[in-house]
Amino acid sequence: KQNSKGVKALMESGITRIPNAYVKPLDERPTKLAAAEADYLSGNEIEIPVINFAGFDGEGHAQVVKSIGEACEKWGFFQVINHGVPTSVIHSVMQVCEEFFDLPVDEKMELYSDDTLKPVRFGTSVNLSKDTVLEWRDYLRCPCRPLSDFIHLWPAKPSTFRELTTEYCEEIAALAKRLCCAISESLGLEFEYLYEVIGKHQQVIMANHYPACPNPDLTIGVSPHSDPGGITILLQDQVGGLEVFNEGRWIAVKPLPNAFVVNLGDQIQFLTNGRYKSVEHRATVNAEKARISIPTFFSPQANAKIAPIPELLGGQPPMYIESIFGVYLQRYFTNKLNRKSAVDSVQH
Ligand code: SIN
Ligand code: FE2
Repeated sequence: KQNSKGVKALMESGITRIPNAYVKPLDERPTKLAAAEADYLSGNEIEIPVINFAGFDGEGHAQVVKSIGEACEKWGFFQVINHGVPTSVIHSVMQVCEEFFDLPVDEKMELYSDDTLKPVRFGTSVNLSKDTVLEWRDYLRCPCRPLSDFIHLWPAKPSTFRELTTEYCEEIAALAKRLCCAISESLGLEFEYLYEVIGKHQQVIMANHYPACPNPDLTIGVSPHSDPGGITILLQDQVGGLEVFNEGRWIAVKPLPNAFVVNLGDQIQFLTNGRYKSVEHRATVNAEKARISIPTFFSPQANAKIAPIPELLGGQPPMYIESIFGVYLQRYFTNKLNRKSAVDSVQH
């Protein structure tokens, strides 16, 4: 079963069908659901909201905040354009991550670990030592805060990796701050409330590589899950594969050039007493093209106590009990991305 060199290396070994270890049981394959089929046939395919962030610093401020609030409530997902992150920085990080995955496998293996507690690592599937069925994805994980604790552990090759990724991380941190402020304002909270709880603490960047797959209907890149932390800002190439669950169907997120996909994690759902949603999503793979996605995760401190914010209860009883973020995260990972059991554990 073990394939610790990753899926890309497996494909390069010349296979023409996926090994059985990657074949998902029937009910876990990425089939379209009936509702999505009906949308397709009626020509009414829905898309996640696209927020033009250009107005945030000017006259359009109130409208931007309102649209973000609506997207967070209904979708827990949106794309953001005109976000201020320079196109050159976006292109550079995408390219250097692609170059990382293109390194000879032995060089990537120097960073390999299936120990999920190892902060910087190259991995495959979700957790190779625990997954019962493997997933069609290789990844690189790099914590970035505080940078001086981690940067010497980041890949030394490609030679520009550290410099370009640092630059990207700084830009994304600035965007995350602005988004946290916008989301706080949309809730009627103090402007920097969510920046203080989420935006300024843990920041982790991941690069996912999904090789083209000979049997994309039998396997999956990432199984349905919600993100356990605060807020995720994802950069993706133009291939597509990310799908979001909404009203009984999986909705494909259409790649937009230079846009980011933003989604809320479980902690925002808890803080807002369920008003803003942490929504399930998955990544499918395809037969034609490899895909790269680069999510950055912003999370509370490990010892942060997270509970519904009293001002947001509006007379309703709290739906969630207080939990310590680090404890929640441990539970989340031992449940193997089983969102329901982790969320249920803090439900009143
Ligand atoms: C993930 O949510 O873990 C991956 C999403 C993606 O690759 O688009
Ligand atoms: Fe995710």
